[in-house]
Amino acid sequence: MDFRKCSGFFLFAGIILLALLLPGCGREVQKTKLRMVTNATFPPYETIRNGRIVGIDPDIMQEFCKRNGFELDIENMEFGALIAAVQSGKADVAASGITVTEDRKKKIDFSIPYTSAHQLVTIRKNSGILANHELKGLKIGVQEGTTGDVYVKENLSEPQRYKDAATAIQALLTGKVDAVVLDSDPSHVFVRKNPSLHLLPEPLVTENYAFAVSKDRPDLLMTLNSSLQEMIADGTLQQIIERNKKENDTSDTGKAGQTGVWERLKEDLRVNFVAESRYLYLLRGFVITLLIALLSVLIGIMIGFVVAVIRSTADQTGKFQLLNLICKVYLTVIRGTPVVVQLLIIYFVIFGAVDINKIVVAVAAFGLNSGAYVAEIIRSGIMSIDRGQLEAGRSLGLSYSRTMCWIILPQALKNVLPALGNEFIVLLKETSISGYIALEDLTKGGDIIRSQTYNAFMPLIAVALIYLAVVMLFSKLLAVLEGRLKKNE
Ligand code: ARG
Repeated sequence: MDFRKCSGFFLFAGIILLALLLPGCGREVQKTKLRMVTNATFPPYETIRNGRIVGIDPDIMQEFCKRNGFELDIENMEFGALIAAVQSGKADVAASGITVTEDRKKKIDFSIPYTSAHQLVTIRKNSGILANHELKGLKIGVQEGTTGDVYVKENLSEPQRYKDAATAIQALLTGKVDAVVLDSDPSHVFVRKNPSLHLLPEPLVTENYAFAVSKDRPDLLMTLNSSLQEMIADGTLQQIIERNKKENDTSDTGKAGQTGVWERLKEDLRVNFVAESRYLYLLRGFVITLLIALLSVLIGIMIGFVVAVIRSTADQTGKFQLLNLICKVYLTVIRGTPVVVQLLIIYFVIFGAVDINKIVVAVAAFGLNSGAYVAEIIRSGIMSIDRGQLEAGRSLGLSYSRTMCWIILPQALKNVLPALGNEFIVLLKETSISGYIALEDLTKGGDIIRSQTYNAFMPLIAVALIYLAVVMLFSKLLAVLEGRLKKNE
């Protein structure tokens, strides 16, 4: 029977995928591990190069670990989530070009400062803006949750908030905003790489950068401070800063000056996909997207199956009233809230303080979410089967559950196959929000390339084409399966 074959296939695929995944989630917790969190969109302090998080902050923390016998573990996340990650104990230290502010001091402790910086204004060369006082009321881009964000809001206008500095710069390049307010070092990097931009000469404010540590970890803070003092005294800190500033200039973001359309296209393709093996972000992201989608759909089908059977049985026989109620609550809550909010709740609240593989979090969130929709799809399949069949089964002497398993469900599943296929397509694309928990899925892979090359077109189109190809291939497979089932009738 085809259904058994295909559930066998799913089971097999599931086991293989789990086997691939498990070594990642069973990471043993070592005592000496130092968990650092950062937002790697901020060169030269932290950026992703060749798939690794590199820059001044990772280097300083690496040196700190070396001097104190820790093993460094770096996790990338949204800038706005860093302080909370330290506060909740999810991370030991946040190192991310973080400015010392009174507000932040209420939540976490800061180390001694390791450098200082300014907030600078970047504009297009042809914009006609000459000085800071002309900025009032203009459209100004910032990175969400940064001190630049706060400064603009308090002194200039309601800012346009972007997830990272590179996106804000892209908005400036394409004329969506009139200026961008950012920390001085990244501003210099962005302006050097974009000849059509320049900086206003006067800084808006001067700030100090420090590392954030939980208020419950005075021991760690003390060790960190004394190591930092040593690194300042012996010149290591200065070396790290200078080396990284130099390295950032050599990263390949394309040659300017191509005039022909074909030439420009070739250079764009090279910079976005070939240079520094950037295609790997798409490739790795693609594997992760597929993995999350497949595992989630398996979980979704399992949950959906159970929920649908409970709900239909309760409706038809009056049994399982309590379970039925639980299922109804589950359906209401899951279908009544956006999946991105569910993902964030699972990541930051439910697994807030534990070190857990993000793929597991994503699979849990998407599987749980999909289960609710699958449940209703399967239930509609069950309801589509004539009640006479149930009665026929029972009068042949089969129990209710046997009738369900051998007569109703196989037919129901066949009826809902197109709807289930559709659910998988929706789910596959829905996983593109995984970037919210800094999981490097396909969409995020495109984002990373975009943040390095300041080119929106190429990475976005490439990402779109990959999703499209997968969906088309899957639709084709589904059509073949449907055809086979029809023949079997
Ligand atoms: N210094 C600014 C702040 O603390 C911006 C830091 C942004 N850092 C980053 N890695 N994106 O708010």
